[in-house]
Amino acid sequence: MPSAHPWSTSMGPVLSRRRFLVGAGGLSAAAVLAGCSSSPAAPAAVRIGPDSPQVAAVEKTRQAAGQRTVDVAVDAVTGPVDIGGTTVQTWSYGGQVPGKEIRLRRGDLLRAQVTNQLPDPTTVHWHGVALRNDMDGVPALTQAPIAPGAGMRYEFTVPAAGTYWFHPHVGPQLDRGLQAPLIVEDPADGADYDQELVVVFDDWLDGTGRTPKQVLADLQSHGMGGMGGGGMGGMAMARSALLGGDAGDVTYPHYLANGRTPTAPRSFAAQPGQRIRLRMINAGGDTAFRVGVPGTPMTITHTDGYPVTPTRADAVLMGMGERVDAVITMPPTAVPLLGLAEGKGGLAQLLLQPGSGPIPDPTAAATALMGRPAMLVNAIPATAAVTLPSRNPDVVHEMTLAGPGAGYVWTINGQPYDPNRGVPVHEGQRVRLRYSNTTTMFHPMHLHGHTFQIHGPGGVGPRKDTTIVLPGQTVEVDFDATNPGQWLTHCHNIYHGEAGMMTVVSYIQ
Ligand code: C2O
Ligand code: CU
Repeated sequence: MPSAHPWSTSMGPVLSRRRFLVGAGGLSAAAVLAGCSSSPAAPAAVRIGPDSPQVAAVEKTRQAAGQRTVDVAVDAVTGPVDIGGTTVQTWSYGGQVPGKEIRLRRGDLLRAQVTNQLPDPTTVHWHGVALRNDMDGVPALTQAPIAPGAGMRYEFTVPAAGTYWFHPHVGPQLDRGLQAPLIVEDPADGADYDQELVVVFDDWLDGTGRTPKQVLADLQSHGMGGMGGGGMGGMAMARSALLGGDAGDVTYPHYLANGRTPTAPRSFAAQPGQRIRLRMINAGGDTAFRVGVPGTPMTITHTDGYPVTPTRADAVLMGMGERVDAVITMPPTAVPLLGLAEGKGGLAQLLLQPGSGPIPDPTAAATALMGRPAMLVNAIPATAAVTLPSRNPDVVHEMTLAGPGAGYVWTINGQPYDPNRGVPVHEGQRVRLRYSNTTTMFHPMHLHGHTFQIHGPGGVGPRKDTTIVLPGQTVEVDFDATNPGQWLTHCHNIYHGEAGMMTVVSYIQ
């Protein structure tokens, strides 16, 4: 039975950042009065913590007899990395960007020995994986951060196949080079394609003048969020109709595809006519990418690792943290796979090369791609096999997104992040989250430890763990509370998240 939820279901007008700043006090007061979703979380004593027996019990149910164990080493290091003609001093996994992919099969036990050779504490978060809560990598909430010079062994079963990735959950570290793909194969994988290509899109500024830490500090001291790399103190200039307003708070000098600037792209060789499965990841800090291969339509097959009704698209919009799998047929001549930095003017590219033909001009290709419609994945239905059985929610939690307030504070339900606050859920419940965006900027909202089902325009949308919420929009998602613990939900704009736009989905006894 749905709980009573007295808050208003209609959004007011979208406030500009400036007006919002003035009205911030009133809105947060209203949010506090709004009811259960803003009430202080359950007292800590009744929370189901990461080290509780329920967490261990759920992990046991995931471990089948004969489970394979995969051991990997993940070293967080500092040092130079060549991003294609430019060498930057940065932080990375193992000295390369992106870090070395981890590849597993569904049901495997991953044992990752992480060493921290950075000057700061760090953690590793396994984005999208429904893993045991004590391995989720969130400082204060699920573990103590790994001190400089120390290490930690992460050990967990990966219960579902799909395209995932991993990154730190400390400050804006992921906006350095600390990011890598985590691919979980299904026994059925490979049936409908010839080759696989994993592509990580990223926005890059580390080692070019300012670190992500300094960018965050600058945003906080300018309050309203000056553009990171460029003019100081101005309002954000990046705009996108597709994103419904502001396209970002930070200017980046480079956009990368698999760690390379567009002037020195990686290339991928295949025979014309071969079917290529693209596993694409947006590892950016503040940039949505419009992705596509001009003249070569994609068939979208998975969102955030989960299968969808195969859907043709010329271009697809990917928010930070999102993944899209798509199959393309290798064209007869060389073409770029483009990631256009939405609303920001730059691009990332990776060359698809069926032979040794001339290298296409990326600017002309970008113009061609911009002339085609871009797909928003929230409208694509999940396949029947992964659609959650229809059920009324037992509890509905409002997630009102607001900001930035003075000092570049972004909030959920009127409050900046506090690991001791959150929204309560009980194991076994069907939970609905309503992400309502009162700001002028899009927010890719991510939930840890679960893959929710989006309410699409026509009813059933895709299964995802990260979903773009456009300005003025409310996105409703449902999930089954089957993974006890303390789980973040937050904006995957790393600067918004670290500036407060995070809260806890808190399993309680
Ligand atoms: Cu990529 Cu908290 O997440
Ligand atoms: Cu955000």
